[in-house]
Amino acid sequence: MNRHVVRAGTAAAALLLAVAYLGTPAWAQGKWECPAAEKSKKSAVPNSPQAVAAGKKLVTDKACTACHGETGKGDGPGAAALTPKPANWTSAAVQSESDGCIFWKISTGRGPMPPWGTTLSETERWQIIQYLRTLKAK
Ligand code: HEC
Repeated sequence: MNRHVVRAGTAAAALLLAVAYLGTPAWAQGKWECPAAEKSKKSAVPNSPQAVAAGKKLVTDKACTACHGETGKGDGPGAAALTPKPANWTSAAVQSESDGCIFWKISTGRGPMPPWGTTLSETERWQIIQYLRTLKAK
């Protein structure tokens, strides 16, 4: 094999290790802030009963409910074992965030929250947000 290729491979492996190491305590870093540029991103899926229904179905099908609970309060069967706890979607803390911010969090994940950006299409993620908006505590 070409020596340059071997060197590049070693460097990439070292970088991956560094990222894995530095990435580990991400969920211990306090409040989960969205980058400013992501906050202003607008939903590509307008609010409609169809979008809400599709979002609700995805939340069940993808087992978001295992952690976030059937009613989105962050009290699913998997929640007890997790630190930090799954977000309560009905809370002011979540509902006060912009669509763009929530979209970024669903896409990126953090700690026990999986990154859904590679599994769910953009449309699916926006549909989920339309559903989450219906859960706002009255
Ligand atoms: C394995 C458990 C788990 C699963 C499955 C899971 N989540 Fe989460 N989720 C979490 C945890 C834990 C957090 C809090 C992460 C943090 O604060 O660092 C979180 C945070 C979030 C937030 C951030 C709320 C906010 O405004 O801060 C959203 C939105 C969210 N999850 C949506 C989803 C959706 C949608 C799915 C399914 C497609 C899903 N989650 C599946 C555990 C999970």
